[in-house]
Amino acid sequence: MIALFNKLHSRWLTFTFRHPRTAATAAPKVNLSTAPPKPVIPSKKPIKVELVGGKRYSWCSCGYSRKQPFCDGTHKTKAEGMKGLRFVPEKDSTVWLCGCKHTNNSPYCDGTHKQDFIVSAPLHECTD
Ligand code: FES
Repeated sequence: MIALFNKLHSRWLTFTFRHPRTAATAAPKVNLSTAPPKPVIPSKKPIKVELVGGKRYSWCSCGYSRKQPFCDGTHKTKAEGMKGLRFVPEKDSTVWLCGCKHTNNSPYCDGTHKQDFIVSAPLHECTD
């Protein structure tokens, strides 16, 4: 009886310690992140532009556009889930559009670029 117990016990120990995560390691990796995408920082200063009243503009919110501060559609491949912010100024005007992409008053600069998290952050540079 003791021999049978020892044999079963050793098999249980062997199975338990040799195969503890067989099912977990075989499972495919799944991205469970639901956090919204974050923009990169193409400039740490606002960009002065002259806008035409009644004309439709699209401000880049992801930071990947090569036509800063305006959207060129690059978000479709580099920042899925983000898109340009469309706006129409009421009249001709000269404004400062946000270049750091972290303003709380999109598309206009609100001074957020002066905060430490922007000042100390790396600047995004187009590589392609
Ligand atoms: S450039 Fe983004 S808040 Fe000023």
